[in-house]
Amino acid sequence: ATTPLRDRRQRAWRDLRISLTDRCNFRCDYCMPRSRFGPGHRFLPQARLLSFEEISQVAQQALQLGVRTLRLTGGEPLLRRDLPLLVRQLAALRTPEGEAPDLALTTNGSLLAEQAAVLRAAGLQRLTVSLDALDAALFARMNGVGFAVTQVLRGLEAAQAAGFERIKINMVVRRGVNDAEALPLAAHFRASGMVLRFIEFMDTGCDSAWRPDEVLPSAELRARLAARWPLRPLAASRGGETAERWAYADGAGEVGFISSVSQAFCGDCTRARLTADGRLFTCLFGSQGHDLRPLLRGTTGHPAALRETLASIWRQRGDAYSEQREQLRGQALHARAEMHELGG
Ligand code: GTP
Ligand code: 5AD
Ligand code: SF4
Ligand code: SF4
Repeated sequence: ATTPLRDRRQRAWRDLRISLTDRCNFRCDYCMPRSRFGPGHRFLPQARLLSFEEISQVAQQALQLGVRTLRLTGGEPLLRRDLPLLVRQLAALRTPEGEAPDLALTTNGSLLAEQAAVLRAAGLQRLTVSLDALDAALFARMNGVGFAVTQVLRGLEAAQAAGFERIKINMVVRRGVNDAEALPLAAHFRASGMVLRFIEFMDTGCDSAWRPDEVLPSAELRARLAARWPLRPLAASRGGETAERWAYADGAGEVGFISSVSQAFCGDCTRARLTADGRLFTCLFGSQGHDLRPLLRGTTGHPAALRETLASIWRQRGDAYSEQREQLRGQALHARAEMHELGG
């Protein structure tokens, strides 16, 4: 057997996050603020997007190199035309052991009511839905376009009806903005079979709207939650997980805390990100990707060359931004790739 692929910090490559579009129908102000993403904003032209065949080529070679999870992201991935076709193609890929990849998708949920059943039937296995508030007015304000929270909740019902289990709900917590929604969201999703995860607000992209005082450390939030519903820690279900898992002591399911600010998890970060136009990033906070497109022309490409390039990119990887935030913050901020390009 060949030696396992490791980066400069001995981390394996297990996850490939695939952004399908830089567009989104929301304008969350921590990601695509209206001021910078107005009607005049130029998104990637259709011709620059990787085709489904090209995406599948990258995914196939990534699976050869040890990747087991493929996560589709955006922008908003449900805006990508013919998405079920791609899901079908990716679900048909196999690891060297002959297993299907773990196939997941992160969405804002706005179009799930229409698409959940089709995506499930196409072979999508896991679903994560972002939801920052239950309060109708606050949700409408936070998504920047007045979108109704009831429609996202309908999408979740459709997803459950379509057979998605253990759907994850992602709440980005901003102190003073929506932290008062944390307990109502917990009350709503307890005992629902869905898993709510609280995410510390991160300084992603070039958006200077991020402020340290808006970060509510998970330990503080967990104390608030535990005062209402006692919690007990759960073991990680696998290595390299973003969320720390806790169970409600009364058996009403679990919640997660994603604490990349207060407790960086770079040490076992196994993720790489592919942008919709074919650049591979080895960190969410990277400023430069590796353009894979020259290796992807046509429908067949050059599998061996692509695999060798991917392997050498991973071997050279040394990223650990969240661990070094204090030192790195501010450096090359202007050059950093944006969340809606990298898919979170
Ligand atoms: P699971 O495989 O289901 O655990 O999904 P996930 O948590 O890896 O993906 P998801 O899209 O749900 O992301 C949850 C949150 O964690 C988002 O805010 C992401 O931006 C953040 N996140 C995911 N991966 C990383 C990472 O490698 N580094 C940092 N700093 N944040 C990450
Ligand atoms: N900090 C933390 N999470 C964020 N997300 C988007 N921007 C940020 C940020 N600045 C989340 C989205 C989605 C996931 C992919 O990333 O809400 O759930
Ligand atoms: Fe769209 Fe998600 Fe960014 Fe909000 S956070 S603007 S839903 S991509
Ligand atoms: Fe991985 Fe970069 Fe996030 Fe650290 S900051 S966990 S290296 S993506």
